[in-house]
Amino acid sequence: MKAIIPAAGLGTRFLPSTKCTPKEMLPVLDKPVIQYVVEEALEPEGVDDVIIVTSPGKPELLSYFQPDRSLEGLLRERGKAAYADAVAATGSMPVDFRYQYEPRGLGHAIRSAADAVAGESFLVLLGDYVVPGRDICTKMLEVSQAHGGASVIAVAPCAPEEVSRYGVIAGERAGSLPGSEDAADCEPGAVWRVSGLVEKPAVEEAPSNLYIVGRYLLSPLVMDLLADQEPGAGGEVQLTDAMARSLDRENMYAVVIDPLSGYDTGTPSGWMATNALMAAEDPRFSGAFWDAIEERGGLKR
Ligand code: G1P
Repeated sequence: MKAIIPAAGLGTRFLPSTKCTPKEMLPVLDKPVIQYVVEEALEPEGVDDVIIVTSPGKPELLSYFQPDRSLEGLLRERGKAAYADAVAATGSMPVDFRYQYEPRGLGHAIRSAADAVAGESFLVLLGDYVVPGRDICTKMLEVSQAHGGASVIAVAPCAPEEVSRYGVIAGERAGSLPGSEDAADCEPGAVWRVSGLVEKPAVEEAPSNLYIVGRYLLSPLVMDLLADQEPGAGGEVQLTDAMARSLDRENMYAVVIDPLSGYDTGTPSGWMATNALMAAEDPRFSGAFWDAIEERGGLKR
Protein backbone atom coordinates (compact mmCIF):
# COMPACT_ATOMS: atom_id res chain seq x y z
CA MET A 1 0.00 0.00 0.00
CA LYS A 2 1.14 3.54 -0.71
CA ALA A 3 0.75 6.66 1.42
CA ILE A 4 0.32 10.13 -0.05
CA ILE A 5 1.54 13.22 1.81
CA PRO A 6 0.44 16.51 0.25
CA ALA A 7 3.20 19.11 0.63
CA ALA A 8 2.61 21.66 -2.11
CA GLY A 9 1.41 24.67 -0.10
CA LEU A 10 3.13 28.03 -0.08
CA GLY A 11 3.56 28.15 3.70
CA THR A 12 2.15 31.68 3.71
CA ARG A 13 1.52 31.73 7.45
CA PHE A 14 5.22 31.16 8.10
CA LEU A 15 6.58 33.91 5.84
CA PRO A 16 9.25 35.18 5.69
CA SER A 17 10.79 31.96 7.15
CA THR A 18 9.29 29.97 4.28
CA LYS A 19 10.55 32.31 1.54
CA CYS A 20 13.47 29.95 0.80
CA THR A 21 12.62 26.95 3.03
CA PRO A 22 9.49 24.86 2.48
CA LYS A 23 7.27 24.84 5.57
CA GLU A 24 7.55 21.05 5.66
CA MET A 25 11.29 21.48 6.29
CA LEU A 26 10.85 23.54 9.46
CA PRO A 27 12.32 21.57 12.36
CA VAL A 28 10.49 19.97 15.25
CA LEU A 29 13.29 19.20 17.71
CA ASP A 30 16.02 17.68 15.54
CA LYS A 31 14.10 16.71 12.38
CA PRO A 32 12.00 18.50 9.77
CA VAL A 33 8.24 18.11 10.20
CA ILE A 34 7.94 16.09 6.97
CA GLN A 35 10.24 13.37 8.31
CA TYR A 36 7.90 12.64 11.21
CA VAL A 37 5.02 12.26 8.78
CA VAL A 38 7.01 9.99 6.41
CA GLU A 39 8.08 7.80 9.35
CA GLU A 40 4.50 7.61 10.59
CA ALA A 41 3.29 6.65 7.09
CA LEU A 42 5.80 3.79 6.91
CA GLU A 43 4.91 2.45 10.35
CA PRO A 44 1.98 0.10 9.52
CA GLU A 45 2.86 -3.25 8.05
CA GLY A 46 2.21 -3.28 4.32
CA VAL A 47 3.00 0.38 3.58
CA ASP A 48 5.97 0.24 1.26
CA ASP A 49 6.14 3.64 -0.40
CA VAL A 50 5.41 7.27 0.36
CA ILE A 51 4.42 9.70 -2.38
CA ILE A 52 5.03 13.34 -1.50
CA VAL A 53 2.99 15.69 -3.67
CA THR A 54 4.91 18.91 -3.93
CA SER A 55 5.17 21.94 -6.20
CA PRO A 56 8.04 22.50 -8.62
CA GLY A 57 9.26 25.41 -6.47
CA LYS A 58 10.39 23.20 -3.57
CA PRO A 59 13.48 21.26 -4.67
CA GLU A 60 14.68 21.12 -1.04
CA LEU A 61 12.16 18.38 -0.29
CA LEU A 62 13.57 16.20 -3.07
CA SER A 63 17.17 16.85 -1.97
CA TYR A 64 16.35 15.98 1.62
CA PHE A 65 15.28 12.45 0.72
CA GLN A 66 18.28 11.84 -1.59
CA PRO A 67 21.44 10.17 -0.27
CA ASP A 68 24.35 12.56 0.42
CA ARG A 69 27.35 10.24 0.43
CA SER A 70 29.97 13.00 0.69
CA LEU A 71 28.40 14.55 3.82
CA GLU A 72 27.91 11.09 5.28
CA GLY A 73 31.55 10.16 4.52
CA LEU A 74 32.89 13.38 6.02
CA LEU A 75 30.91 12.82 9.22
CA ARG A 76 32.20 9.24 9.49
CA GLU A 77 35.80 10.41 8.95
CA ARG A 78 35.34 12.85 11.81
CA GLY A 79 33.96 10.19 14.14
CA LYS A 80 30.42 11.56 14.11
CA ALA A 81 28.73 8.24 13.41
CA ALA A 82 25.32 9.13 14.89
CA TYR A 83 25.00 12.18 12.62
CA ALA A 84 26.22 10.12 9.64
CA ASP A 85 23.55 7.50 10.41
CA ALA A 86 20.88 10.20 10.64
CA VAL A 87 21.91 11.59 7.24
CA ALA A 88 21.99 8.07 5.74
CA ALA A 89 18.49 7.33 7.08
CA THR A 90 16.93 10.31 5.26
CA GLY A 91 18.44 9.12 1.97
CA SER A 92 17.21 5.56 2.24
CA MET A 93 13.49 6.02 2.91
CA PRO A 94 11.14 4.79 0.16
CA VAL A 95 9.91 8.23 -0.91
CA ASP A 96 8.74 9.26 -4.39
CA PHE A 97 7.48 12.59 -5.61
CA ARG A 98 4.67 13.89 -7.78
CA TYR A 99 4.04 17.50 -8.70
CA GLN A 100 0.95 19.57 -8.24
CA TYR A 101 1.45 22.27 -10.84
CA GLU A 102 -1.33 24.61 -9.71
CA PRO A 103 -2.55 25.26 -6.15
CA ARG A 104 -6.15 24.04 -6.66
CA GLY A 105 -6.79 22.44 -3.27
CA LEU A 106 -6.21 19.26 -1.28
CA GLY A 107 -8.36 17.08 -3.57
CA HIS A 108 -6.41 18.23 -6.60
CA ALA A 109 -3.09 17.56 -4.81
CA ILE A 110 -4.15 13.99 -3.99
CA ARG A 111 -5.38 13.42 -7.55
CA SER A 112 -1.89 14.46 -8.77
CA ALA A 113 -0.61 11.16 -7.32
CA ALA A 114 -3.30 9.01 -9.01
CA ASP A 115 -0.86 7.12 -11.25
CA ALA A 116 1.18 6.04 -8.22
CA VAL A 117 -1.70 4.27 -6.44
CA ALA A 118 -3.50 2.97 -9.54
CA GLY A 119 -6.46 0.85 -8.51
CA GLU A 120 -5.42 0.32 -4.86
CA SER A 121 -6.55 1.72 -1.53
CA PHE A 122 -4.14 4.33 -0.20
CA LEU A 123 -3.37 6.34 2.90
CA VAL A 124 -3.33 10.14 3.05
CA LEU A 125 -1.43 11.89 5.84
CA LEU A 126 -1.66 15.66 6.07
CA GLY A 127 1.73 17.11 6.82
CA ASP A 128 0.77 19.69 9.45
CA TYR A 129 0.06 17.08 12.08
CA VAL A 130 2.78 15.21 13.96
CA VAL A 131 1.77 11.97 15.68
CA PRO A 132 4.63 10.75 17.89
CA GLY A 133 2.82 7.46 18.70
CA ARG A 134 2.47 6.69 14.93
CA ASP A 135 -0.56 4.53 15.74
CA ILE A 136 -3.50 6.18 13.96
CA CYS A 137 -3.01 4.55 10.53
CA THR A 138 -2.73 1.10 12.12
CA LYS A 139 -6.09 1.67 13.84
CA MET A 140 -7.68 2.75 10.56
CA LEU A 141 -6.32 -0.34 8.81
CA GLU A 142 -7.79 -2.55 11.54
CA VAL A 143 -11.23 -1.00 11.09
CA SER A 144 -10.97 -1.29 7.31
CA GLN A 145 -10.06 -4.98 7.53
CA ALA A 146 -13.04 -5.59 9.80
CA HIS A 147 -15.32 -3.98 7.18
CA GLY A 148 -14.19 -5.59 3.94
CA GLY A 149 -11.54 -3.05 3.00
CA ALA A 150 -13.80 0.02 3.36
CA SER A 151 -12.47 3.60 3.51
CA VAL A 152 -11.75 4.76 7.07
CA ILE A 153 -10.91 8.20 8.41
CA ALA A 154 -9.65 9.36 11.78
CA VAL A 155 -11.85 11.90 13.56
CA ALA A 156 -11.75 13.71 16.88
CA PRO A 157 -14.22 15.87 18.79
CA CYS A 158 -13.73 19.64 18.69
CA ALA A 159 -15.51 22.55 20.36
CA PRO A 160 -18.79 23.21 18.47
CA GLU A 161 -17.63 26.69 17.42
CA GLU A 162 -14.50 25.25 15.74
CA VAL A 163 -16.27 23.02 13.21
CA SER A 164 -16.00 25.54 10.39
CA ARG A 165 -12.21 25.08 10.28
CA TYR A 166 -12.52 21.41 9.36
CA GLY A 167 -14.24 18.64 7.46
CA VAL A 168 -17.00 17.19 9.68
CA ILE A 169 -18.84 13.85 9.59
CA ALA A 170 -22.44 12.77 9.95
CA GLY A 171 -23.05 9.16 10.96
CA GLU A 172 -23.92 6.66 13.61
CA ARG A 173 -21.99 4.53 16.07
CA ALA A 174 -21.06 1.22 14.46
CA GLY A 175 -18.73 -0.43 16.96
CA SER A 176 -15.40 -0.04 18.72
CA LEU A 177 -11.75 -0.82 18.36
CA PRO A 178 -10.89 -4.03 20.23
CA GLY A 179 -10.36 -3.11 23.89
CA SER A 180 -12.39 0.12 23.63
CA GLU A 181 -15.88 -1.38 23.91
CA ASP A 182 -16.67 0.94 26.85
CA ALA A 183 -15.84 4.12 24.91
CA ALA A 184 -18.68 6.65 24.64
CA ASP A 185 -19.61 7.73 21.10
CA CYS A 186 -17.10 10.60 20.92
CA GLU A 187 -14.37 8.92 22.94
CA PRO A 188 -11.21 7.36 21.52
CA GLY A 189 -11.81 3.88 20.14
CA ALA A 190 -15.43 4.47 19.06
CA VAL A 191 -16.09 3.52 15.43
CA TRP A 192 -18.79 5.25 13.34
CA ARG A 193 -20.35 4.48 9.99
CA VAL A 194 -20.16 7.70 8.01
CA SER A 195 -23.38 8.85 6.31
CA GLY A 196 -22.28 12.34 5.26
CA LEU A 197 -19.29 14.66 5.14
CA VAL A 198 -19.21 18.46 4.97
CA GLU A 199 -16.13 20.59 4.43
CA LYS A 200 -15.96 23.70 6.60
CA PRO A 201 -19.65 23.85 7.58
CA ALA A 202 -21.23 26.88 9.22
CA VAL A 203 -21.52 26.23 12.97
CA GLU A 204 -25.32 25.90 12.78
CA GLU A 205 -25.14 23.47 9.85
CA ALA A 206 -22.51 21.05 11.19
CA PRO A 207 -23.88 17.51 11.46
CA SER A 208 -21.60 16.71 14.43
CA ASN A 209 -18.50 18.03 16.13
CA LEU A 210 -16.37 15.11 14.95
CA TYR A 211 -13.78 16.57 12.60
CA ILE A 212 -11.38 14.90 10.16
CA VAL A 213 -7.92 15.12 11.74
CA GLY A 214 -5.91 14.54 8.56
CA ARG A 215 -5.38 10.77 8.42
CA TYR A 216 -7.32 8.88 5.74
CA LEU A 217 -7.45 5.35 4.31
CA LEU A 218 -9.28 5.71 1.01
CA SER A 219 -10.63 3.35 -1.62
CA PRO A 220 -9.74 3.61 -5.33
CA LEU A 221 -13.27 4.98 -5.96
CA VAL A 222 -12.38 8.20 -4.09
CA MET A 223 -9.33 8.67 -6.34
CA ASP A 224 -11.54 8.08 -9.41
CA LEU A 225 -14.14 10.60 -8.19
CA LEU A 226 -11.44 13.25 -7.68
CA ALA A 227 -10.85 13.27 -11.45
CA ASP A 228 -14.01 15.30 -12.06
CA GLN A 229 -14.54 16.84 -8.63
CA GLU A 230 -15.83 20.41 -8.90
CA PRO A 231 -14.34 23.08 -6.61
CA GLY A 232 -16.13 23.42 -3.25
CA ALA A 233 -15.39 25.35 -0.03
CA GLY A 234 -12.95 28.21 -0.60
CA GLY A 235 -13.11 27.64 -4.39
CA GLU A 236 -10.79 24.62 -3.97
CA VAL A 237 -11.14 20.99 -5.09
CA GLN A 238 -11.93 19.36 -1.75
CA LEU A 239 -10.99 15.77 -0.86
CA THR A 240 -13.96 15.77 1.53
CA ASP A 241 -16.40 16.38 -1.36
CA ALA A 242 -15.13 13.36 -3.37
CA MET A 243 -15.31 11.25 -0.20
CA ALA A 244 -18.92 12.42 0.31
CA ARG A 245 -19.81 11.35 -3.26
CA SER A 246 -18.31 7.90 -2.66
CA LEU A 247 -20.91 7.29 0.09
CA ASP A 248 -23.59 6.63 -2.57
CA ARG A 249 -21.67 3.54 -3.65
CA GLU A 250 -19.50 2.42 -0.73
CA ASN A 251 -19.44 2.31 3.05
CA MET A 252 -17.02 4.50 4.96
CA TYR A 253 -16.08 4.34 8.63
CA ALA A 254 -14.53 6.77 11.08
CA VAL A 255 -12.48 5.91 14.13
CA VAL A 256 -12.42 8.41 16.98
CA ILE A 257 -8.93 9.24 18.21
CA ASP A 258 -7.73 11.30 21.15
CA PRO A 259 -7.29 14.85 19.81
CA LEU A 260 -4.15 15.10 21.94
CA SER A 261 -2.47 12.15 20.20
CA GLY A 262 -1.08 14.56 17.60
CA TYR A 263 0.45 18.02 17.53
CA ASP A 264 -0.69 20.69 15.07
CA THR A 265 2.29 22.39 13.43
CA GLY A 266 0.25 24.26 10.81
CA THR A 267 0.45 27.72 12.37
CA PRO A 268 3.45 29.52 13.88
CA SER A 269 2.00 29.31 17.40
CA GLY A 270 1.06 25.62 16.95
CA TRP A 271 4.54 24.89 15.67
CA MET A 272 6.13 26.73 18.62
CA ALA A 273 3.94 24.88 21.13
CA THR A 274 4.76 21.55 19.44
CA ASN A 275 8.47 22.19 19.80
CA ALA A 276 8.14 23.26 23.43
CA LEU A 277 5.87 20.36 24.44
CA MET A 278 7.93 17.73 22.64
CA ALA A 279 11.23 19.16 23.97
CA ALA A 280 9.84 19.08 27.51
CA GLU A 281 9.02 15.37 27.11
CA ASP A 282 12.07 14.15 25.18
CA PRO A 283 14.85 12.89 27.48
CA ARG A 284 17.47 13.98 24.92
CA PHE A 285 16.42 17.61 25.23
CA SER A 286 14.32 18.12 28.35
CA GLY A 287 17.16 18.76 30.85
CA ALA A 288 18.78 21.58 28.86
CA PHE A 289 15.37 22.85 27.78
CA TRP A 290 14.09 23.33 31.34
CA ASP A 291 17.49 24.71 32.49
CA ALA A 292 17.27 27.42 29.80
CA ILE A 293 13.77 28.35 30.95
CA GLU A 294 14.46 28.22 34.69
CA GLU A 295 17.57 30.38 34.23
CA ARG A 296 15.11 33.13 33.32
CA GLY A 297 12.77 32.54 36.23
CA GLY A 298 10.49 29.92 34.67
CA LEU A 299 7.50 30.28 32.40
CA LYS A 300 4.28 32.03 33.33
CA ARG A 301 1.36 32.87 31.14
C1 G1P B 1 -8.03 19.90 5.57
C2 G1P B 1 -9.25 19.08 5.19
C3 G1P B 1 -10.24 19.06 6.35
C4 G1P B 1 -9.57 18.56 7.60
C5 G1P B 1 -8.32 19.42 7.92
C6 G1P B 1 -7.55 18.86 9.10
O1 G1P B 1 -8.42 21.26 5.67
O2 G1P B 1 -9.83 19.62 4.02
O3 G1P B 1 -11.34 18.24 6.02
O4 G1P B 1 -10.46 18.59 8.70
O5 G1P B 1 -7.45 19.46 6.79
O6 G1P B 1 -6.51 19.72 9.43
P1 G1P B 1 -7.34 22.46 5.66
O7 G1P B 1 -6.68 22.46 7.01
O8 G1P B 1 -6.38 22.17 4.55
O9 G1P B 1 -8.14 23.70 5.43
